[in-house]
Amino acid sequence: MQEVMKEEVLRKFRQVFGDTEGVRLYFAPGRVNLIGEHTDYNGGHVFPCALTIGTYGVARKRQDRKLCFYSMNFDQLGLIESSLDELTPGGDQDWTAYPKGVIWAFAQRGMELPCGLDLLLNGNIPNGSGLSSSASVEVLTGTVLRDLFGFEVSNQDLALIGQFSENKYNLVNCGIMDQFAIAMGKKDSAIFLDTADLSYEYAPISLQGAKIVISCSNKKRGLGDSKYNERRSECETALAELQKVVDIRSLGELTEEAFETYKGAIRDEVRQRRAKHAVYENQRTIQAVAALRAGDLAEFGRLMNASHVSLRDDYEVTGKELDTLVEEAWKVPGVIGSRMTGAGFGGCSVSIVEDGAVDDFIRRVGEAYQEKIGYAADFYVVEIGDGPVVLQA
Ligand code: GLA
Repeated sequence: MQEVMKEEVLRKFRQVFGDTEGVRLYFAPGRVNLIGEHTDYNGGHVFPCALTIGTYGVARKRQDRKLCFYSMNFDQLGLIESSLDELTPGGDQDWTAYPKGVIWAFAQRGMELPCGLDLLLNGNIPNGSGLSSSASVEVLTGTVLRDLFGFEVSNQDLALIGQFSENKYNLVNCGIMDQFAIAMGKKDSAIFLDTADLSYEYAPISLQGAKIVISCSNKKRGLGDSKYNERRSECETALAELQKVVDIRSLGELTEEAFETYKGAIRDEVRQRRAKHAVYENQRTIQAVAALRAGDLAEFGRLMNASHVSLRDDYEVTGKELDTLVEEAWKVPGVIGSRMTGAGFGGCSVSIVEDGAVDDFIRRVGEAYQEKIGYAADFYVVEIGDGPVVLQA
C-alpha cells in the first residue's frame, strides 16, 4: 500500500510540477476515537488512535514566495496558487485552507518561511468522514515545514499549532484531540489523553481475536457547517452556571455524583443534557481504559454502546445515518461495541467486531443501511499506526 501511494504521488508531482528535483516525501495518519467524544473542549479525557491510512505528501522549497498546492483528492480543482503574502484567516473556500493555516500559524509563532513551496497531497482517508482528514493535512504540513526549514518543534507542538490554525485561521473551534492523536500516534496503541493538562499515556490495544471496523455513512459534512460550535458554547454556558455553585475550571472535573448534586444550577433542560453528556462521557472514558487494561473487552464494548446512546439522546449529534449504522451493528452477533466517532452529524461509526463476524457485519449493516437511508455505506477494517514520518529524504 505504502509503496503504491509513494509511486503515485511522485508520478503526479512530476506531471504537475515538471520534475521531482529536490522533493521530500511525507506521511501523516488519520485517526479514530475509540471513546471520549465531545470531551476534549470540556477538560475531559479522550482515547483515540492513529491509523495506518492517512495523507501522503511530496514537497519542496521554491525560489520565490509562491505557494503551489495540488491535491489528488481534488483533481478537478487543479493547481492552486497562492503566496506567503496572501494568507488571510477565514478567507479560503477549498482544502488549501488547511496547509495555508499551518503556514500562517508557524509565522504567528515566529517561524516565518523564507521562501514558498510546492506541495502535492494524496490521502486515502475518505474526505469529511470523521477520520480527521483535515487534521491529518495540518500535521502533515507541520511535518513538512519542520523538515524543509529546520524549525525546532516537537510532535506535541505540531498538534498545538495544527489546532491553533484550525481555531484561528479556519475559524473552527475544535479541541486538541484530532491533531494530538495524529501527531503523537503509536502503532498498536491508543492514547489516553487528559485534555485538562495534556498529560497522556499509551495503552496497548490487543483486541484478542477482534478487529476495529469503521463504517462510513457517506453523509458529508464539515465541522464548519455542523452544530459543533453551538454545542461548544452550550457547554461553556452550562459551565458558567455551575461555577456559581461549585469551584471547577471545566466540566471534566465533575464526577457523576457531583454533577447530579449541582445540575440544578443549569437553568435550561437542553443545556443540562449537554453538560451531563460531557461529565458522564469523561467518566466512561476513564472506566473504559481501566476495563481494557484489566482485559475486559466486553465492558469496554458496553461503555462504547453507552457512549453512543448519550451522544444520541443527550448531546444530540448523531442523526439517522449514524444511528442506523450503530443500531444495526448492535444487532449483529459478534459485535463487542459500536458507536459514532468524531464530531458526529454524519461521518463514521467505530465498531469492535470478532474476527469471524466481520464479513457478516459488513453484509448485514450494509444492507440495512442501504435500505433505510437509500445509499450505500463504506466499511474499512483498520489498523492502528504511528504518527507522522518523513518517508524518503
Ligand atoms: C472533532 C473535533 C475534536 C473533538 C471531536 C468530538 O473531531 O476536531 O476536537 O471535539 O470532534 O469529540
